[in-house]
Amino acid sequence: MLKLLVTGGAGFIGSHFIRYILERYPEARVANLDKLTYAGNLENLSGLERDPRHTFIQGDICDADAAAPPLDGGVDAVINFAAESHVDRSILESGEFIRTNVVGTHNLLELCRRKKVRRYLQISTDEVYGSLGDGNAFTEDTPLAPNSPYAASKASADLLVRSYFRTHGFPAIITRCSNNYGPNQFPEKLIPLFISNAMNAMPLPVYGDGLYVRDWIHVRDHCAAIDAVLRNGKAGEVYNIGARQEYPNLEVARRILKELGRDESLIAFVEDRPGHDRRYAIDPAKMEGRLGWRPRIAFEDGLRETIDWYRSNPEWVAHVRSGEYLTYYDRMYEDRGRTLSDR
Ligand code: NAD
Ligand code: DAU
Repeated sequence: MLKLLVTGGAGFIGSHFIRYILERYPEARVANLDKLTYAGNLENLSGLERDPRHTFIQGDICDADAAAPPLDGGVDAVINFAAESHVDRSILESGEFIRTNVVGTHNLLELCRRKKVRRYLQISTDEVYGSLGDGNAFTEDTPLAPNSPYAASKASADLLVRSYFRTHGFPAIITRCSNNYGPNQFPEKLIPLFISNAMNAMPLPVYGDGLYVRDWIHVRDHCAAIDAVLRNGKAGEVYNIGARQEYPNLEVARRILKELGRDESLIAFVEDRPGHDRRYAIDPAKMEGRLGWRPRIAFEDGLRETIDWYRSNPEWVAHVRSGEYLTYYDRMYEDRGRTLSDR
């Protein structure tokens, strides 16, 4: 029987991963340690409340007293999704990013090493590689060159993970994925923000010239890749995950507006993100060649499904687009020297 500790499992990708695992391995048991920050949402786990295979524990990965007990009965693997994950928030205030992403990862590594955990997956990001020009793509050997405090905190965590493998022989693996999209993503990230703004006939704030490129992967393809690494990945290795689906932000905005029957006049060019990475692109050849993983969901289909999900879940959207969410947008646009009604 597969026994996992997932951290950050009330967030976007972590909650999809838990569902993926329980569907694919009906005998599995998953403990889910999540602090429930603004991004953690138990509604993402609806339907699992009474499922005995899933145990939710509210707790902080920085806190050894919270993180140690779920390891006590022995687990087959720990998968660390817990993080502060939004670049714009790290520009506004980076303290929590260092605390959770760096100190929290260190705390987990130390606990897992002492408890002799046999497999540890660090869910990292392609942002650690920095920005690309035209043509090439990030491979696992691309040097780390993070540009935002978020990316720097994730790169720091990756270096700690590497050091635990090299120094202690701790069986850790790092995955670095490109931009995820799909249901349940917090509407501060590009795609869910643009979908929910378009649904409400509110402006879509496109940063700079809108020609920044991201490489999009559906969250379920990411989960399948993590599962492949969990089963067959080699300790000490890095695996890049991506679906070869690059689009400029402006094109993503136009596709969302078209799908929702809204006019392109809703596009609002706004102040650029400081330190904005121009392009990300992943070369997933290692995942494909060594682990036999392939992405399955085409962007057109995944985007349509995602839009349908946001349309069908107005309560989920209303809950998350309230309270702290509104304050954050006021602060962010104030910080960038302008006010905007397009939260
Ligand atoms: P998210 O912000 O939706 O979820 C993060 C989760 O972590 C939340 O449930 C939150 O409550 C929890 N958390 C935060 N601080 C915590 C702490 N100190 N202790 C315990 N739990 C805490 O993030 P996401 O988009 O689901 O990303 C998950 C992971 O995947 C992150 O590590 C992120 O860096 C990585 N990643 C994300 C993407 C993407 O496109 N979203 C791409 C590649 C990698
Ligand atoms: O590449 C993986 C990373 O993808 C993850 O590690 C991060 O956790 C995740 O947030 C994401 O980072 P990005 O900064 O690429 O995602 P975001 O959705 O914030 O922005 C995507 C692009 O859209 C980027 O070029 C900035 C732009 N953008 C974003 C927002 C929120 C806009 O033009 N307007 C917006 O309002």
